[in-house]
Amino acid sequence: MRKKLIAANWKMHKTPEQAQSFVSALLPHLWEHTRDEIVLCPPFLAIPAVIEATKDSPIGVGGQDMFWEKEGAYTGAISAPMLRAVGCSHVIIGHSERRQYFGETDDTVNRKLRAALAAGLKPIVCVGEVLAEREAGVTEDVLRRQCSIAFREISGGEAIPMVVAYEPVWAIGTGKTATPELAAEAHRTIRAVAAEAFGEGVATQLRILYGGSVKPDNATLLMSQQEIDGALVGGASLDAKSFAAIVKW
Ligand code: 13P
Repeated sequence: MRKKLIAANWKMHKTPEQAQSFVSALLPHLWEHTRDEIVLCPPFLAIPAVIEATKDSPIGVGGQDMFWEKEGAYTGAISAPMLRAVGCSHVIIGHSERRQYFGETDDTVNRKLRAALAAGLKPIVCVGEVLAEREAGVTEDVLRRQCSIAFREISGGEAIPMVVAYEPVWAIGTGKTATPELAAEAHRTIRAVAAEAFGEGVATQLRILYGGSVKPDNATLLMSQQEIDGALVGGASLDAKSFAAIVKW
C-alpha cells in the first residue's frame, strides 16, 4: 500500500505573513487527518514562517527548486543542505516552469536529484509532455526520456525517498485535467522506467503523483485511481479551504 502524498506548490505566491495565515487557516481542517501525507512548498522566503507555523503538525515543508552544488559562487542559488538546515523535508525538482522559463534540462534535473538525495531531502521530480508532444503521439517517448535521464547514476537504495509527479504541461493552470485513464497510462510508463532503473521492488513502492488543474471537484475521481499516489497542486493550493478539501478527497 502506497500512502498518498498531497503537495501544495505555491509557485511565486505568498509573503511570510500570508503563508502564516494560510497555515493557521489550514490546520483546524487537518488535525485528525492521517490517511495522506501533506507537504507545503512555499517560495524560499516564506519557508521559515511555514516551518514555524507547522512545527507541531505532521505537515512537511519543501523547497520549489535547488541547485546541485552545496555552496559556492552561484549567485541567487539555494542548496540542498541549506534547505535541510532550515527544516525542509522535501524539494520539487524539474517543474515544467523551471524547464520553460529557467533553462532546466533533463541533465540538470538529474544533477539536482542526485544532490537532493545525497543531502537527505525527499525529491518530488516532475515530468510531463507538452501539448504538441501529446498531439504528436510521443508522450510515452517523452516520459521515458525524461525519467531515464533523471534516474541516471542513482541506485535502487538511493531512490527510495524519491517521488515522481506526472504533470502534463497542457493541464497546468489551464483547468484541463488528464482523464484518470490518461494519467494511469502515463504513470505505468513512469513505473516501468523506474523498474528498469531501480528494480521491481523499489518501483512498486515509488509514489507517482498527478498534477495539473487538481481542484476540490475533481480530486476524488483522480485520487481514487489505484495508479495515482497523490497530487501536486498549484492554483487550488493557495486557498486553505480548497487545499483542505483536496486533501480530504
Ligand atoms: P495547477 O494546479 O495550477 O494546474 O498547477 C499544477 C502544478 O504545476 C503543480 O506543480
